[in-house]
Amino acid sequence: MRTALLLACALTAVAASAEESVYRELDYPIDNYLPKVEGDMALSGTYPLWKDRTKLDWRMAGNPEENWRLNWKFMDPPFNGAVHGGHFALDRGEDLYKALNRDGRFAACLGAGKGKLRGLRTRYPSYNKELKRVVGLEEMIERCAARQDQVLQNGSYDNSAVSLYMASHSQGLPIRIDVSKGPMKEAFERGRILYHTKAGRLNFACSSCHTHNVGQLVRGTHITTPYGDAAHFPVYRTKYMLQSLQLRIAECNLDSGVQPLRPGSAAYTDIEVFLTALTNGYPVSVPSERD
Ligand code: HEC
Repeated sequence: MRTALLLACALTAVAASAEESVYRELDYPIDNYLPKVEGDMALSGTYPLWKDRTKLDWRMAGNPEENWRLNWKFMDPPFNGAVHGGHFALDRGEDLYKALNRDGRFAACLGAGKGKLRGLRTRYPSYNKELKRVVGLEEMIERCAARQDQVLQNGSYDNSAVSLYMASHSQGLPIRIDVSKGPMKEAFERGRILYHTKAGRLNFACSSCHTHNVGQLVRGTHITTPYGDAAHFPVYRTKYMLQSLQLRIAECNLDSGVQPLRPGSAAYTDIEVFLTALTNGYPVSVPSERD
């Protein structure tokens, strides 16, 4: 608790001293994510560093004792091997999917070649030719369901449940999005800037916590790095049931005094592209649980 308070005070002090400057300045310097950690070759390629406890680099935690808390992604699956709410959500997702996909249109609309769901999750967010922009999987689930007059609102339990079911078909497959060119690269760059842009009542950027204060205690949890996060969403949260990645971003916005946006908004999709690129190489692991 004391650490959390000290952290909050320290960050607020920094924010106050910058009062005169533009109210939405960047959290300089923008970290160069290629490469961030020693041995991190590409976007992101950090999985080998996390999957083995003995290889965790304590410099990322700032303190060797906190190493294990730093990034628990390497413990999935199964972080929680017992049956939890994520498993029930998966069943719900399967039912909804089967009802929607009786004639195969739903899978085709989501971009599943020959109706095959395997690997689909690892390619999202992706560029949609029809919409001429980058879309997240949950946004497409909402759109494709709407074509059949079904409401699966992005951010709802049912929408996330279908997304979770999609992800389960990619269990263990590495996330693989290409942000090297075109609209995906542009979305990545916008997401990268957003991730570093300070905003809101406390004047924090995502990076103020997830890059510059990794390992610190905030609200009873230790802040982790942005690497590998996208691979275990939608996640079962003991307090919110099921949470998509964009809803998690909204939660962090709320917690740090920033007006949250709707899931599916352009800014959240850009941040999702950025976070997913930093998750390249990490195996999809669902259903995961976070408290
Ligand atoms: C005030 C500090 C703070 C800020 C600012 C903040 N977060 Fe978080 N975030 C946390 C904490 C604490 C957690 C829970 C512990 C963890 O998993 O890192 C968390 C969790 C997350 C997770 C889930 C990690 C997991 O393993 O499930 C994601 C993704 C995330 N934040 C993204 C963001 C993004 C994107 C932004 C900027 C829009 C942001 N956060 C801003 C503190 C912050």
